[in-house]
Amino acid sequence: MSAAPRAGAPTFAALAERHGTPLWITDADAVLARLRELEAAFAGLLHGVRYSVKANSGLALLRKLKEAGAGFDVVSGGELARCLRVGVDPGRIVFAGVGKSDAELAAGLAAGIGSFDVESADELDRLAALAEARGVAAPFALRLNPDVDAGTHEYVTTGTRRNKFGLPFDEALAALRRTAGRRGLRFHGFHVHIGSQVTDPTRFAAAAAIVAERIAATRAAGYAVSSLDFGGGFAVAYEQPAPPIAAVAAAVRPHLAPLQVELLLEPGRWLVAEAGRLLCRVVAVKQTPDRAFVIVDGAMNDLVRPALYGAWHPVELVAPDRAARPVVLADVVGPVCESGDFLAKERRLPLPRAGDLVVVGMAGAYGTSMSSQYNSRPRAAEVLLEGTATRLVRRRETIDDLLATELDG
Ligand code: LLP
Repeated sequence: MSAAPRAGAPTFAALAERHGTPLWITDADAVLARLRELEAAFAGLLHGVRYSVKANSGLALLRKLKEAGAGFDVVSGGELARCLRVGVDPGRIVFAGVGKSDAELAAGLAAGIGSFDVESADELDRLAALAEARGVAAPFALRLNPDVDAGTHEYVTTGTRRNKFGLPFDEALAALRRTAGRRGLRFHGFHVHIGSQVTDPTRFAAAAAIVAERIAATRAAGYAVSSLDFGGGFAVAYEQPAPPIAAVAAAVRPHLAPLQVELLLEPGRWLVAEAGRLLCRVVAVKQTPDRAFVIVDGAMNDLVRPALYGAWHPVELVAPDRAARPVVLADVVGPVCESGDFLAKERRLPLPRAGDLVVVGMAGAYGTSMSSQYNSRPRAAEVLLEGTATRLVRRRETIDDLLATELDG
């Protein structure tokens, strides 16, 4: 474990001193390097990236991605507002989500976004009515449910018929037929997203093959299909290695290349996971006959993935004398009053002491964006690393922030 997030950058100790802990450290350069790698892997096929804002929705990061040419996939009025706040071209925004409200659809229409990824016949009718009332035509794609098992955690599997997402093809085609000629609608293509952290490229290939067949059938039925948003879900290496993105591109290319569509991709995790760390300070260490409990000041309210999915994140001790410490079996846990509040379980670590720093890695995706105030804990601060410089991009919440929305007291 090096003493700093990058050679020449402030050390973890200096960052903790300056900004306090727990502290998110987001490496902007790493995110942009991943974007370039993705574009290279899909060269010749890719029309544009629509970064999935839910993975990490910090304004500073969104601005960086916008400047690097990315567009954005949003799933709420809040995410849309974030993109507009940093000046994203609305034409590069796609709006997905299984339960968009009228207010959210109207906000998308008012902004003039590039696509509504429609997930139900009801939504399509509401979108048409809202667009017609405004005298505009809503560009839309239909999200297909291809009934392909992504082979990932059941909570993040989205493309089987047991999942709430998308439409089976026959229903999508029926919705197209029923709404054909409506002034408020402009159909341009399909959307598909089978799940997240999909480690087997053949699952993407299976989805691509099905979508290719559906596009051919749609064209045969007389509808022009000019775009395909193939979603995200590319896996990163947490505990297990992940396939290189080039392998994913190679698996889908034979199915997607002949389609003559504008291909969009919506990765979230793959772009940002590796770039994020959660820096925590050890509050106490309890040695039991069984193991050491390393109690740190970060918790499940900061990074919920271990508690929610049993997710594995690398954890390392930052201490100049770490090589001299005895190695112990340790659970790294937070102060929250639940046994589910752990960041890492049963790890062999150099024995930490109170006051030491630990770094939780691979935390850039679904870290800050899923953090909460559970146990009335103010949310952590965040610094962005650019080159060897860091700047505070999210101040630490205060107790006043915690109480600000409540009306009694
Ligand atoms: N597009 C759609 C329509 C999605 O629903 C998602 C993620 C993505 C793109 C981006 O997927 P990614 O490339 O990040 O895998 N909280 C979970 C992950 C939830 C993913 C939800 N949808 C986690 O921490 O593992």
